[in-house]
Amino acid sequence: MATITKKTVKLTVNGVECEVEVDVNEVLAKVLREKLGLTGTKIGCESGECGACTVLIDGQPKLSCLILAIECEGKKILTVEGLSDPETGKLHPIQEAFIENFGFQCGFCTPGFLMVTKALLDKKTGEKLTDEEIRLAIAGNICRCGDYYHIIESIKAAAEKMKRFS
Ligand code: FES
Ligand code: FES
Repeated sequence: MATITKKTVKLTVNGVECEVEVDVNEVLAKVLREKLGLTGTKIGCESGECGACTVLIDGQPKLSCLILAIECEGKKILTVEGLSDPETGKLHPIQEAFIENFGFQCGFCTPGFLMVTKALLDKKTGEKLTDEEIRLAIAGNICRCGDYYHIIESIKAAAEKMKRFS
């Protein structure tokens, strides 16, 4: 019996429905970068330790280096390219906050931090965002440039811009 090695999956990526043929053992990060041209999602460790590959799947932050593309059938995926306004190109307030607060140096880790911030602020209601909430949200993301102070300041500024507290 022939072994199935390829499959076509249907995904909605940054609001656009698409069908893409993938190897059954191909991870989502590679499909995004190499088959859909969305190279904003970075691949660092490829073992779930750095967070550079974080995307939102149905609104939840997930490590796309650890998820097979075939597991994403029918899911809504948001990558860093989907943060800005698709019509005007205007940056998302989170992106603006990172720029204004020097929340990156080399920028390799930045897409991952932007996506975990998006997930954090999308579900945030009520009290002002605490340092602890921010630290917990970014606990799985590594910045090799060590720019954590500015990253945390950027996330606080993003919360202010988005008025994510009462
Ligand atoms: S590349 Fe996925 S966690 Fe590092
Ligand atoms: S800004 Fe360089 S790894 Fe974070």
